[in-house]
Amino acid sequence: MSDRRDFMGKVLGAWAGLGALGALYAAKRTWDPLPSVKAAGKTVVDVSGAKENELHTELWRGKPVFVMKVSPNDPAHKDKRLVQIGNDKFFVAIGLCTHLGCIPTYFPEKHKFICPCHGGQFNSAGEVLKSPPPKPLVIPPFKVEGTKLVLGEEGEQYKKLKAAGVVA
Ligand code: FES
Repeated sequence: MSDRRDFMGKVLGAWAGLGALGALYAAKRTWDPLPSVKAAGKTVVDVSGAKENELHTELWRGKPVFVMKVSPNDPAHKDKRLVQIGNDKFFVAIGLCTHLGCIPTYFPEKHKFICPCHGGQFNSAGEVLKSPPPKPLVIPPFKVEGTKLVLGEEGEQYKKLKAAGVVA
């Protein structure tokens, strides 16, 4: 009987270990930045190598900023909050939940973010799908230069979003 219990314990332990590895892998993928340069409060991110539906997290002025090429089959693909870079649409937002500041996790198969703290949800344009977050994820000042995204400068697209009341 105790042999059987030992065996079950090992199986469960291995199972839990695999789960932890999977979570670590997902976290590492989420935190894989694109090639970027930081200087004087700006972060310049080269998005030419970005793959659809793969979240990257950049650091801008000490805050995580999510950058993701949104795939055409994503329900949020036509959202006005997305940034046009070349022929592609990108999601760009500060990666802090607008409820109490936790970092939401992206679930690529669901095309949504779920906040680990109180279950708030956002789509892949940063719009709230489920409360308690009171407002969408915040879009930082940005400028597009060719295939580069400059975080920390207000370019034409950012100014248009501002004029439309999409960003504060
Ligand atoms: S901090 Fe995200 S739901 Fe509360």
